[in-house]
Amino acid sequence: MGAGIAQVAAQAGHDVHLVDAREGAARAAVETLGATLRRLAGKGRVSDEDAESAAARLHPVDGDVTALPAVGLVVEAVVEDLEVKREIFAALAQTQAVDTVLASNTSSLDLTAVADGVPHPGRVIGLHFFNPPPLMRLVEVIRGRDSDRAVLDAAATLMRAWGKTPVECASTPGFIVNRVARPFYGEAQRMVADGTLDAASVDLALRAHAGFRMGPMELTDLIGQDVNLAVGTSVWEQTGHDPRYAPTDFQRELVATGRLGRKSGRGVFTYDESGTAVDAVADPDLVARLVGGPVETDPVARTLAMLVNEGVDLVHRGEASAEDVDTAMRLGTNYPQGPFAWRDALGSQTVVDWLTALDSAFPGGRYRLSPGLTEPA
Ligand SMILES: NC(=O)c1ccc[n+]([C@@H]2O[C@H](COP(=O)([O-])OP(=O)(O)OC[C@H]3O[C@@H](n4cnc5c(N)ncnc54)[C@H](O)[C@@H]3O)[C@@H](O)[C@H]2O)c1
Repeated sequence: MGAGIAQVAAQAGHDVHLVDAREGAARAAVETLGATLRRLAGKGRVSDEDAESAAARLHPVDGDVTALPAVGLVVEAVVEDLEVKREIFAALAQTQAVDTVLASNTSSLDLTAVADGVPHPGRVIGLHFFNPPPLMRLVEVIRGRDSDRAVLDAAATLMRAWGKTPVECASTPGFIVNRVARPFYGEAQRMVADGTLDAASVDLALRAHAGFRMGPMELTDLIGQDVNLAVGTSVWEQTGHDPRYAPTDFQRELVATGRLGRKSGRGVFTYDESGTAVDAVADPDLVARLVGGPVETDPVARTLAMLVNEGVDLVHRGEASAEDVDTAMRLGTNYPQGPFAWRDALGSQTVVDWLTALDSAFPGGRYRLSPGLTEPA
């Protein structure tokens, strides 16, 4: 991620200093990025001059972060470990000016905890890029408890100058994308596990009847069941085991048996050498019978109701704006539209009715209504 972010910043005209704990890694990244930029120029995606000048702006730094020169912004993208990140931020606070913005690309750690103990914590924010950074437009700008408003606004402006679309979110578990997306996977896994329909049919239902590019089963096979389970487990643990985010035994079993998805040749589906699923055979008649029927057995209604509930709840808690939630889900996960657009299309009352029916069919709190759904819009 660090190299991809460096490429974006260099192409936007900044001098970028790369540092990595592994000896030679920063130098190797600069070489690889130089080759990437030359390849982009070869394909006509950037001019020869732009590729050359961006490559010339990339500078490897030997040593640790204290060897960095004085800069305006540091984007930390080291291992996802709070203690390692805190050590780095403490060192940066010693060596960089008090108005240097210190950003973390963390996907799951609490920014307030990362900033804890850093002098002038107002300068610490999250800049959560998506993989691969040069191609993904979305950046979640994360505000910790102490992040300064001026720093957050300047970061959003900078991200726009880098050709990105920033959205802002409080430092809440999963931020916007990794939180709101949970039920897209969880509902499908529950319905397949209880025998309502098979995995290929769930995917077909969500593609054909809700416009998703990929269904949840094929998508988790692509992401990696282990990676997807780790994100879900992290959100579940950080929310005090909220049943809304509870990982499923269905997915745990896939991971425990090494069925990680495309990368291991087998996940929900089995893949041939070209990466094509050989056993993803949907039943269109079953899908046609279920979609539009009772919500308990309708994979589309269940998924959309939960996505709307999740998006509305984030906004209800004051953690993000409705506009940013919709933008984040379209750009971060490629959804055809965001939860608020769906709420408007379906009507709040329909969503409330669906969730109420689900809550009485499957009690335990997973389907509890966000208070935001029954408040006047
Ligand atoms: N991979 C993704 O899709 C993705 C997406 C968004 C955010 N992130 C976040 O970005 C960060 C990095 O993820 P990644 O997948 O690029 O990891 P990675 O393991 O590929 O790279 C981490 C790099 O950090 C270096 N490093 C470790 N400790 C260091 C230290 N103390 N000082 C300097 N360098 C150190 C390692 O040598 C390694 O090169 C994580 O916080 C992750 O959560 C990852």
